[in-house]
Order: sequence, then C-alpha cells, then structure tokens
Amino acid sequence: MWLYLATLVTLFYLVRWYRERQLVSYLPDKYVLITGCDTGFGNLLARKLDTRGLRVLAACLTEKGAEQLRGQTSDRLETVILDVTKPESVAAAAQWVKECVGDRGLWGLVNNAGITIFSIPNEWQTKEDFATVLDVNLLGLIDVTLNLLPLVRKARGRVVNLSSVAGRLSTFGGGYCISKFGVEAFSDSLRRELSYFGVKVSIIEPGFFKTEMLSKERFLKTLQEFWDRATPEVKKIYGEKFLASNVKRVEKLEQRCTKDLSLVTNCMEHALTARYPRTRYSEAWDAKLLYLPMSYLPSLLVDAVISWGSPRPAKAL
Ligand SMILES: NC(=O)c1ccc[n+]([C@@H]2O[C@H](COP(=O)([O-])OP(=O)(O)OC[C@H]3O[C@@H](n4cnc5c(N)ncnc54)[C@H](OP(=O)(O)O)[C@@H]3O)[C@@H](O)[C@H]2O)c1
Repeated sequence: MWLYLATLVTLFYLVRWYRERQLVSYLPDKYVLITGCDTGFGNLLARKLDTRGLRVLAACLTEKGAEQLRGQTSDRLETVILDVTKPESVAAAAQWVKECVGDRGLWGLVNNAGITIFSIPNEWQTKEDFATVLDVNLLGLIDVTLNLLPLVRKARGRVVNLSSVAGRLSTFGGGYCISKFGVEAFSDSLRRELSYFGVKVSIIEPGFFKTEMLSKERFLKTLQEFWDRATPEVKKIYGEKFLASNVKRVEKLEQRCTKDLSLVTNCMEHALTARYPRTRYSEAWDAKLLYLPMSYLPSLLVDAVISWGSPRPAKAL
C-alpha cells in the first residue's frame, strides 16, 4: 500500500516536473508590460526578461526610476510613466503599448505595482487610508487589466498578478490584506473567463521579502504619523506600550524577510515563459510552511496563533 502511494506521488511529481520544463517558443518576439518597475520585484523581473531577450515594456511611477532602469538594460527595453491610480495615465500607457506591439498583441501583463501600510490597527485608520491602498493594489490593477485585455487576448498571452500570502490570510489591519484578497478573487474569475480565449492567468503569493515596500524606516515613520494623529480615546485604549511593541515588531520584520528576490521573480518568469504555467505560485519557506498551511486551519486556532504574536492594547480585557 505505502509502495503504491510512494510510486503515485513520485509519478505525479515527475510528470509535473516534465510539463513545467517546457517553454513557449519565439521569446524574442514577445512583449511583456510590467507595472511598478522603479524598484523591487518589478525592477528585477524587467532586467531578467531583458537579459533573456524578451521585449520588455517597463512601466515606472517616476522618471528617475525609468532612467535608472534604462541605464541598466539593453536598448530593447522601453519605459513608460504609469500611475495605476490615474485613469488618464492608464489609458495613455495602454495606447502606447498598442502602438509598440502592433499586430502581435501583448504576450504578458504583469500587475506588480503595489503599496502597503503595515502593523497599524484598523481603528487608527480612516476610510481614505484604506482607499489609498485599495486604489493602487486592487482598483489600479483592475483598470490596467481591463485596458490591456484586448491586446493580451490578441496574443493569447498571460496575465500575472502579484498577490501575497496576505491575500490568503489576513494577519494585520488596513487596506493591504483586503486588497490582496481582492486580487485573488479578481484573478480567479478572470482566469475562468479568459480560458475560452487561450489566455492564462497566474497569481504570485510571496511571503515577506526585503524590498522598498517593507523598508523599516518607511514603516516606523508611518507608524509614528498614525499614532500622532490618533484620537485621545484611541491613544488611551492602546497606550504607549502598544506603540513601543509595534515598533519592535516592525524592527524584527526586517530580520524575518527573505533577501533573495529572485525566488519570486523566477515564479513570475515561469508564469510568462512556460507552456504550462501554474495557477498559483508561492515559493518562499514562510509562505509554504507557515502562512498557507495556517490559512486552512480553523479560525479559532488561527486567531490564537496571531494574537499570541501580537501586542496587546493597554485596556484589553
Ligand atoms: N515585498 C514583499 O514582501 C511582498 C510580499 C507579497 C507581495 N508583494 C507584492 O509585490 C509587488 C511589488 O512590491 P515590492 O515588494 O517589489 O515593493 P516595491 O519595491 O515598493 O515595488 C512596488 C513598485 O510599485 C510602484 N508603485 C507604487 N505606487 C504606484 C502607482 N500608483 N502606480 C504605479 N506604480 C506604483 C513603486 O514605485 P516607487 O518605488 O516609485 O514608489 C514601486 O516601484 C506589490 O504588489 C506587493 O504588494 C510584496
């Protein structure tokens, strides 16, 4: 019985390994648009795809980011300025992409741009704070996708959406986890709808990685700003000790972050270049061994584990 089981499992992995090694052909003819290429995963992916000979259309938020990227890549890579929260910027970028790709269509759309507000309780935030994050991570992603879908369909290409383990398990307050749950939901429905046209949709679910988005300095500054503007009631309920514990938590986060960003960009590359891309990719150890298994546990257990590792408000019962 155990032998049959072991043989079946081995066969499954062998077939999967064989399927996943097969690449699509004519990579140098394929155009890929990546959003948020100034830094982090988007920047590294743009450089890697450029080295592999694909035609990279790198969308950056700032001219400085675009200039730096152009300085590190070949003449094939082209840049465009794109703020995913601004409909006119998205429409202009889509028109530019249309002119670049011509009749070939767009092979790959990588929705990577994102922001976060970390470790700040819901009660300290306003509707606008939630909206700011949702606007970039979810509504911006949807707007870019809707504008570029005709071109992706033309190429029977790929959509690769950056979600997170926070899209499977909500571990902190604010708009980030909500936005990533939204990315998961949007990507799932999109995958089914686009399967009729030969377009494949993949979701990338990284754990915690050391990029600009998770910079300690940025988080500590935001934490202090939110505390400073909190109402007297919130300050009394949570207390200075809670703030101090949260500062420690943010400081520790940097040590927990995985430094090798290529673990994530390899998944993005696979989703764009493999004949049979996966629906979901989650490669780092924290995602595989901690967050994803936890997301399947009963809420009672998950709540206990998360509360155990979180600071307690001063007036907690
Ligand atoms: N790092 C992690 O641990 C982690 C984990 C899970 C998921 N992710 C996801 O991975 C993606 C990339 O993040 P990252 O970690 O590589 O962080 P990052 O280095 O901060 O990259 C995010 C990029 O998005 C750009 N951006 C921000 N607002 C934008 C807007 N309105 N329009 C267009 N671009 C905008 C940023 O530009 P500026 O640099 O000019 O601000 C930056 O280039 C995000 O979707 C994030 O949620 C990251």
